[in-house]
Amino acid sequence: MLSISVEEFLIWKKKQLSKGGDHQSLAVLLDCVGGVSKSDINLTTINPQGILHLKKKLEFLESVWDDHLLKSCPIQYLCGIAFWRDLNLKVTNKVLIPRPETELIVDIVSNIFRRKSEKLFFAELGTGSGAISIALALAYPLSNGVATDIDQDALEIATKNFINSSKQSNLKFYCGNWWSPLENFKGKLDFAVSNPPYIPKDTYEKLPKEVKNFEPKVALLGGQDGLKHIREIIQKAPLFLKEKGWLILENHFDQGEKVKKILIKNKFSSIEIVKDLSGIGRFTIGRYK
Ligand SMILES: C[S@@+](CC[C@H](N)C(=O)[O-])C[C@H]1O[C@@H](n2cnc3c(N)ncnc32)[C@H](O)[C@@H]1O
Repeated sequence: MLSISVEEFLIWKKKQLSKGGDHQSLAVLLDCVGGVSKSDINLTTINPQGILHLKKKLEFLESVWDDHLLKSCPIQYLCGIAFWRDLNLKVTNKVLIPRPETELIVDIVSNIFRRKSEKLFFAELGTGSGAISIALALAYPLSNGVATDIDQDALEIATKNFINSSKQSNLKFYCGNWWSPLENFKGKLDFAVSNPPYIPKDTYEKLPKEVKNFEPKVALLGGQDGLKHIREIIQKAPLFLKEKGWLILENHFDQGEKVKKILIKNKFSSIEIVKDLSGIGRFTIGRYK
């Protein structure tokens, strides 16, 4: 551990932010690499005469920050860590950086299944870093979950994240196209969640370079109209859900009504478009019959 004065640290921090970037990303760098948590930083305002302990030299942290600014590489990939809900997840450029708006999907499930002691069986399709299914496996310790992804590298990361986050073995990972690895679980699921790739092709081409140049295309692109994967997931869901089982989907900001129509066409009921904290219809949920 290196010790520096709070004064020196604050000058350094101001200099970094004057070069660009945002507070949030700098906080991630300081926490993951520097070993300085958000609460340590808050304390500096109360105690400007104090001393701060760092795991790495300021010069090193500055070089990572410069790299982030110069290449527009997301800070989470440079640090190898993303914070999501109360999880500390390993991330590489093989997985999407889990987004804050996706955190709500866990709350949607909690509103449907209120008893944490329930013995549910759930699936996550397209697990990436494992964020959603790990949070669910932790929230419902007596339940069992299965999570799929098309990308084996992503599943290896998700598996490590689960081992690092939980002592339990109530989540299993399977590689393959959407429902296909789950043939053995037909008609058995109480609910399934998915945040599939839903960006329409034209929008994908115009994504900011920090997303398009670094995050996996397979995690983002949803075909010409963005709904290719959502359609496939909804069409096959009735085979895997129990009667009255729930399907909970994240979608693009303007896809709620279209997803609702696909759900109706496939005989889902109790359909609802759930808004995120910005008031966007980010999730569409329904029950099979
Ligand atoms: C938008 S990302 C979501 C990742 C993670 N669940 C999250 O919310 O951060 C979509 C995920 O679906 C996976 N995926 C893409 N096509 C797939 C397919 N045909 N079958 C299964 N998974 C797929 C991608 O590899 C990626 O991990």
